[in-house]
Amino acid sequence: MLDRHKRPLGTLRISVTDRCNLRCAYCMPEDEYVWLPSASILLATEIERLARVFVEHGVRELRLTGGEPLLRPDLVDVVARLSRLGVDLALTTNGVLFGDHAKALREAGLSRVTVSLDTLRPDRAKAMSKTTRLADVIASLDAARAHGFVDTKINMVVLRGRNDDEIADMLALGRDKGVEVRFIEYMDVGGATRWSMADVVTKDEIKARISAVCGPVESISPASSRAPATRFRAKDGTTFGVIASTTQPFCGTCDRARITADGVLFTCLYAENGVDLRQPLRAGATDESLWATVSETWQARTDRGAEDRSRSPTRDVLIPVTRLRADPHREMHTRGG
Ligand code: GTP
Ligand code: 5AD
Ligand code: SF4
Repeated sequence: MLDRHKRPLGTLRISVTDRCNLRCAYCMPEDEYVWLPSASILLATEIERLARVFVEHGVRELRLTGGEPLLRPDLVDVVARLSRLGVDLALTTNGVLFGDHAKALREAGLSRVTVSLDTLRPDRAKAMSKTTRLADVIASLDAARAHGFVDTKINMVVLRGRNDDEIADMLALGRDKGVEVRFIEYMDVGGATRWSMADVVTKDEIKARISAVCGPVESISPASSRAPATRFRAKDGTTFGVIASTTQPFCGTCDRARITADGVLFTCLYAENGVDLRQPLRAGATDESLWATVSETWQARTDRGAEDRSRSPTRDVLIPVTRLRADPHREMHTRGG
C-alpha cells in the first residue's frame, strides 16, 4: 500500500499520553496546558487492538512516545501487549522515570529505548526543561544497559547559544555509556512557538564541530534507509546520528503514521487534521473497517510537512499559541514527535 508519493506505511508511532513531567522550552514552554480528557485516552486493550490492525497489514516498527510515556501507570501492560505482536518495539522517553521501571519494561518485552537529553549541566537542565533530575536521566542510560536493552540512543536537540557548546561532551558521554547520540535540528513544530532559524544549529555545522574535535567524519547511512537520522563515523571510531528535519527534510522517505493518546491518526508531524479512530473503535467497528479507514487515509496522503515549511516564505510566522491551545492535537507532546 503506497501513498500518493509512493511511500509505504512501515512505522506506527503511538503517543500513549499527552502529559509530561518536564517542560522543555522548545516543546512545552508554558506551565499549564489543555490536556486531552481522561475518558478519551485509549485503554491498553484499545492501543493493542489498533496496533494489531496496523501490524497485520505490514507495519514492522512500533514506537511508543508521549508526552512522557512513563507517566502512564499501565505502561508495562501496554508494552507487554504490544511486544506480543512480534514486531520491533521501541520507546522514546525523557529518562526521568525510566530507571525505576527499566527492569519491568524489559521483562514485558521492550528492548529498545531512546532517551532525550539536551544538556549535561544541572543549571541548564533546570533552565531548559525545568528539571532538577538530570542525574536520574543520565542514570537511565546505565539502567538500560544493566537490564539488557540494545541499541539505546540519546536524542539531543541542539539550540544555538543554549547547549551547542556541549556537542562534544554529549558525544563523549555516549561513548562512555556505549550509546549512540543523535543530534536533532530544532524544528518549527507544535509547541515550538518561539522557534527561529537563528536558533537552529544545522547538520553541517554539527558535523563540522565534531570533526574539529574527533577528526574527519564519514557517512555510514545505508542508501535505502527510511530512518530520520543520517549516521556518521568519526575518525576515532565514534558513531553518531543527525536528524536534519529542518535543513534537509526527509519527507520523501517518510513511512510513519502516528496515533495520539486519544486515538487520532495523523500522517505527518505537521498535518493540520487527523482522522479519529477512537470513535469507530468504541462503536464496535470491525478490524476490516478500521483498516479501511487507515488505508484510505494513507493512500490519499500527499503531505510533506517539513519540506513545505522549508520552502515557505512565511516560515518564521509560527502557529499562534491561541491556535495550539484551541486544538491540543497540534502540540508535539500530543502528536508524539
Ligand atoms: P529509530 O527507530 O530509533 O530510528 O527512532 P526515531 O528516530 O524514529 O525516533 P525518535 O522518537 O527518537 O525521534 C527522533 C526525532 O526525529 C524526534 O525529534 C522526532 O520528532 C523526529 N521525527 C520522527 N519522525 C519524524 C517525521 O516523520 N518527520 C520529522 N520531521 N521528524 C520526525
Ligand atoms: N525540534 C526538535 N526536536 C524536538 N523534540 C521535541 N520538540 C522538538 C522540536 N521542536 C524532540 C524531543 C525528543 C523527540 C521525541 O522530539 O527532544 O527527543
Ligand atoms: Fe516532555 Fe519530551 Fe516535550 Fe520535553 S520534549 S516537554 S520531555 S514531551
